[in-house]
Amino acid sequence: MKNTYKAVEVSAPGLLRVVERPISEPGAGQVRIRVEACGICHTDAATVMGVYPGLTLPRVPGHEVVGRIEALGSGVSKWKIGQRVGVGLIAGEDGACEPCRRGDSVNCQNPVISGVTVDGGYAEVMIAEARGIASIPDELNSAEAAPLLCAGITTYNALRNAGLRGGDLVAVQGIGGLGHLGVQFARHLGFRTVAIGRGREKEKLAKDLGAHVYIDVTVEDAAAVLQRMGGARAILATGTRGDAMGPLVSGLAVRGKLIVVGVPQDQIGLNAFPLVFGGRSVYGSLTGTAIDQEDTLAFSALENIRPMIETVPLEQAADAYARMMQGKARFRMVLVTKDGIAQSAKPAA
Ligand SMILES: NC(=O)c1ccc[n+]([C@@H]2O[C@H](COP(=O)([O-])OP(=O)(O)OC[C@H]3O[C@@H](n4cnc5c(N)ncnc54)[C@H](OP(=O)(O)O)[C@@H]3O)[C@@H](O)[C@H]2O)c1
Ligand SMILES: [Zn+2]
Ligand SMILES: [Zn+2]
Repeated sequence: MKNTYKAVEVSAPGLLRVVERPISEPGAGQVRIRVEACGICHTDAATVMGVYPGLTLPRVPGHEVVGRIEALGSGVSKWKIGQRVGVGLIAGEDGACEPCRRGDSVNCQNPVISGVTVDGGYAEVMIAEARGIASIPDELNSAEAAPLLCAGITTYNALRNAGLRGGDLVAVQGIGGLGHLGVQFARHLGFRTVAIGRGREKEKLAKDLGAHVYIDVTVEDAAAVLQRMGGARAILATGTRGDAMGPLVSGLAVRGKLIVVGVPQDQIGLNAFPLVFGGRSVYGSLTGTAIDQEDTLAFSALENIRPMIETVPLEQAADAYARMMQGKARFRMVLVTKDGIAQSAKPAA
């Protein structure tokens, strides 16, 4: 076996380049993964631009990682060599901070963050904390499982934890990597599902993904349309613009919730009136834990939910990243390594 591997690192802000790195052994409590696929999430922009808090360069981005375990560090007993596993954004908690001690490990104050505090999955090899990985079910191939590990879990967790009931009117704003999965989860969780996007081009795609109604914000006021439908119990805001989120509060039913999962650079402007008169609320939701990953994957297998993906060889990461940033991906760019291609060519077991 070669003692080096190919990775795509951010060497300086804005610069993604292919490098060859030495393979190292996993430390105590870690595993080494031979990566097959890694999705490109919009959050990777914070690594590529060098602005993620606590980030130092060079760093390999990528937190929608699927591959096979090829080496176990000392003390790892739950996982086996050859097992297919996934790694998401929050890939290990310290177990010591107050949220961890209260059992809220996704909000750990000192987490291991793939592609930020440690190298991520734009690579042929990744070292991960064994406590932070998830098992991948056989029903999902590696390229289609990858986006479920961030775009999928983030939207699924936010929706399933929102106290909603079957038949509720639920809208998903922003039809990108997160949003196109959010629409599918909302539909399969039993909600009357509205997709809110920009332009007519996404209407058919959104309806094919399960939306009952599509609102094109370039010609319609989303809040007014939602109010005519009776008001949304929840709106999952996945977009990258804060000024597009605040006005959505007026589209909520009494006690409705605007759940913010997109992380725009600009402010979310809020009008107090609809918040106060009607007890509406706004809150955020951060991805999820390894066991939430397994729930997301199991629900996706159960309900036949798949991301819509475009696969690209690892070496073309910079082009694929640019395509995502330009809003051209339909709907997730997924990097595949030569091991990923070899595995997908094998007949199903
Ligand atoms: N909370 C979490 O744990 C978590 C996890 C993953 C990602 N994120 C964040 O979620 C956001 C989306 O990530 P993604 O991977 O889905 O990105 P993406 O695939 O690049 O999609 C971009 C999204 O932004 C929307 N958008 C772009 N320009 C807009 C504008 N001018 N006004 C309104 N909406 C606009 C697009 O919606 P339309 O084109 O349909 O209007 C699309 O839904 C990012 O901010 C990312 O950092 C958060
Ligand atoms: Zn992500
Ligand atoms: Zn902690």
